[in-house]
Amino acid sequence: MDSETARRNHRDEVDRRRTFAIISHPDAGKTTLTEKLLLKGGAIHEAGEIKARKANRHARSDWMSMEQERGISVTSSVMQFKHRGFALNLLDTPGHRDFSEDTYRVLTAVDSVIMVLDVASGVEEQTRKLMEVCRLRDIPIITFVNKLDRFGLPPLEILSDIEETLALETVPLSWPIGMGDRFRGTYNLYEDELHLFSHADMQGEHERLAIDSLDDERLDDILGEQADELRFDIELVREAGDSLNLERYRDGIQTPVFFGSALSNFGVGDMLDTFVDIAPPPQPRPTTTRTVDPNEEAFSGVVFKIQANMDPRHHDRMAFVRVCSGQFERGMTVTHSQSGDTMRLNNATAFMAQDREGVERAWPGDIIGIMNHGTLKIGDSLCAGDPVEFTGVPSFAPEHFRKVHLEDPFRAKHLGKGLTQLSEEGAIQVFRPLRGNDYILGAVGELQFDVVLARLEDEYNVDARLSGVNYTCCRWIEGDPTIVEAYESDEISNLFRDASGALAYLGLSTWRLERMMEDWPELNFKKTKEHV
Ligand code: G4P
Repeated sequence: MDSETARRNHRDEVDRRRTFAIISHPDAGKTTLTEKLLLKGGAIHEAGEIKARKANRHARSDWMSMEQERGISVTSSVMQFKHRGFALNLLDTPGHRDFSEDTYRVLTAVDSVIMVLDVASGVEEQTRKLMEVCRLRDIPIITFVNKLDRFGLPPLEILSDIEETLALETVPLSWPIGMGDRFRGTYNLYEDELHLFSHADMQGEHERLAIDSLDDERLDDILGEQADELRFDIELVREAGDSLNLERYRDGIQTPVFFGSALSNFGVGDMLDTFVDIAPPPQPRPTTTRTVDPNEEAFSGVVFKIQANMDPRHHDRMAFVRVCSGQFERGMTVTHSQSGDTMRLNNATAFMAQDREGVERAWPGDIIGIMNHGTLKIGDSLCAGDPVEFTGVPSFAPEHFRKVHLEDPFRAKHLGKGLTQLSEEGAIQVFRPLRGNDYILGAVGELQFDVVLARLEDEYNVDARLSGVNYTCCRWIEGDPTIVEAYESDEISNLFRDASGALAYLGLSTWRLERMMEDWPELNFKKTKEHV
């Protein structure tokens, strides 16, 4: 193949990829939607497979069963499927019980997001938090308002909730006709097409009907009195609303909105068709020195997640690497940018819907898993060409805190080693006060504490206990060294260093944090911290 053809092939592979995540509050329907997407893409063949995995995950009650489930969670963490010639990589963000820093980090590896809302609840807490993370990189978002087969909030109220709570412009691309018992389907605003819902047929292909205009009398025949309601709504939406602007969507300012029912597979295809058309392909990624384009010839990738191996006796772990440029081939030699060492990537894993397969090749946007013994850390970069260090896979300020107590003081060294390794893996954040020897753990989700305790015992033979502390917020401190020094001596009792040595303030309340920020206006109180 000549180099021009190779370049064109590469560009085609990049252009047809869509790497994304689904975000939602628990129970809004993320698992159900995932399942419908995978069924459509032929990645699973039976309804219920993804739900069963979720049930398994929730049923586990102790660390050992979590261990057994790990194999499953590794394989389901990246699901690849096809739709109309596009190759889609869906990255799983764990649900409520598993809510952790991993959830946030996955969002640093995607190019766009589908946000699922329950029509009965609108924007909920966890969606709001995940959106904050999407904002850091202005990730484009398509919204799917779910469960229209049930009664919920009026569609206009949902739209204004999104606009007000999430500060996103909304552009409905489909509009629901009734809801609950009166749900008759949706009206596709761009194609002027009626999509009819049948309560009797929850899984089948739904009838579509092209309509010349809203005055078409067939609307009255089919929808009865609901035809006029639809006309009224559409007129209102068309007059008051914005129209789709691709640039504003890609800049994360505007969100196209679809209404449907994932459970009955209604509206899912409509959304997916638009998704592959407008969602961005793999995007250029920033490094400390320059921006790397996915069409560059040399392979590069960034580690965004680490997962410990299933067997706790071996300290090997799986690094999830997003390919950022070039082409990955098994066995290739790369430079680990952070250490300067070279590595041969013999045992890389591609993530498919059900099982692991030895990867032969992977393209920008794809995810590969690399087994290693602790060489690779979160945020690390691998490059076949000139080494670069990718940015944009940060640590997120923890919101939950615990103090560590050691039962046997002779195990202190092991505790230190265990906590260092677990923090490198991104399982937990570890802080030590400027004055004193305590270990304070910080997490985004409470479950992280259970995992750390169990792993300290299993893998490091350390029997530790955690107690509550009154901290509620954390910020990393940056600024002019002389001001930082003055700040350190004034506020020493509130200051800590994390595992990488970065200075952090742990606050007892957001009110105190705000006061602190007012008192030290020259300092940066950062909610995220880059790993580089
Ligand atoms: P999650 O991953 O976001 O947590 O949500 P999940 O898909 O598990 O859905 C949560 C519940 O909502 C499930 O019910 C699911 O069947 C239901 N659901 C999802 N989409 C729709 C929809 O479009 N319409 C209706 N009416 N329900 C929907 P469950 O009772 O918790 O589980 P199951 O017993 O049905 O499996």
